[in-house]
Amino acid sequence: MREFRSAVIGCGLISKNHLKALKNVKGARCVAVCDIVREKAEAAAELYGPEGSEGVKAESLAGAGDASGRDEIRVYEDYGELLKAPDIDVVHICTPHYLHADMAVEALLGGKHVLCEKPMALTTKDARRMMEARDKSGKYLGICFQNRYNEASKYMKGLLEGGELGAVMGGRGQVTWNRKPEYYANSPWRGRWATEGGGVLINQAIHTFDLLQWLTGPVRCVEAGMGTRRLKEAIEVEDTVDILMTGMEGQRILFYASNCYVKNAPVELELVCEKGSVKMVGNVVVTERDGRVTTKDYSSGQVLGKDYWGSGHGFLIDDFYQCIREGREFPVSGEEAVVSVRLLEAVYGSAREGRVVSL
Ligand SMILES: NC(=O)c1ccc[n+]([C@@H]2O[C@H](COP(=O)([O-])OP(=O)(O)OC[C@H]3O[C@@H](n4cnc5c(N)ncnc54)[C@H](O)[C@@H]3O)[C@@H](O)[C@H]2O)c1
Repeated sequence: MREFRSAVIGCGLISKNHLKALKNVKGARCVAVCDIVREKAEAAAELYGPEGSEGVKAESLAGAGDASGRDEIRVYEDYGELLKAPDIDVVHICTPHYLHADMAVEALLGGKHVLCEKPMALTTKDARRMMEARDKSGKYLGICFQNRYNEASKYMKGLLEGGELGAVMGGRGQVTWNRKPEYYANSPWRGRWATEGGGVLINQAIHTFDLLQWLTGPVRCVEAGMGTRRLKEAIEVEDTVDILMTGMEGQRILFYASNCYVKNAPVELELVCEKGSVKMVGNVVVTERDGRVTTKDYSSGQVLGKDYWGSGHGFLIDDFYQCIREGREFPVSGEEAVVSVRLLEAVYGSAREGRVVSL
């Protein structure tokens, strides 16, 4: 089995989840990292390289490399240079939002498979460019909505698709977290429309927002309000958003997100169906119309990242590689991820202009 050789672009907070996950992917190895801040790339290479404290997975020791069979991780400051390297098969994009589309397009057209962090892009137009580049290159494009791989999410999706609860009549989602001014000061691309593309919705709440639309189905129109309530001094984007969406069959779908809470509370999701309802707050509780209640406890699942990010990074990344190897379609494709980009555009348009936006 030929080993995939991978690279991570952007060595900030989330890159660690990718580098850790890569250690556990059978038949893949990180060979390069890139950051415009050289020290960050060097630190990542050191931590996840053969001698680093995060170590190297056993099977890599037998591969090509120096006499001990170990390869150092190469360090780049310029992603364009990294993309020229012919030995790199897969690129993980872990950079600020505004860079996702251009980097993905360049990498795909350069013959690399791309796994890109969320959001897919800032605009639907950019997301489409990414899919066009994928189609032209014949390479894989996947987007990191790792919460779709959480046991609770998969259970809810299966339950609704199984039809036991009947048609979805409505749903709601809530994300109430805490982000301090330092969080924005540490990475100045955050908190700015031009570079983050929005605030709590596009960055923190997007996973739950994506799950909600994944579970309810397509949305016909959107009405939203947003504001910067607590973080006025730190950011220009919204720290709070409330949304009413209407589904194709008239479903009423509510979403609320704020970074102004005192802690990162567990996210909440609820779907109300013809024959019962399902609610997730850590556990999943199904209440049927006849009063029967079933509780599924997912709290003991393996958590690889911060618990409120979900534990799916490892599962999603592993699946991405297995899909490429087996020629299977990757479930979180461009087509799947562009839906939330379209909805984000509608929400921000509606909130800015104070009108209902049809999709
Ligand atoms: N899936 C998740 O749960 C999750 C969680 C956190 C962040 N993210 C996403 O990951 C991405 C990065 O977020 P973060 O929190 O790690 O941000 P961060 O600011 O900690 O890291 C971004 C890194 O990219 C580097 N960078 C900037 N421009 C670059 C360029 N041109 N070339 C190479 N490197 C460059 C920066 O120097 C920085 O080290 C964002 O898209 C974010 O939404 C996803």
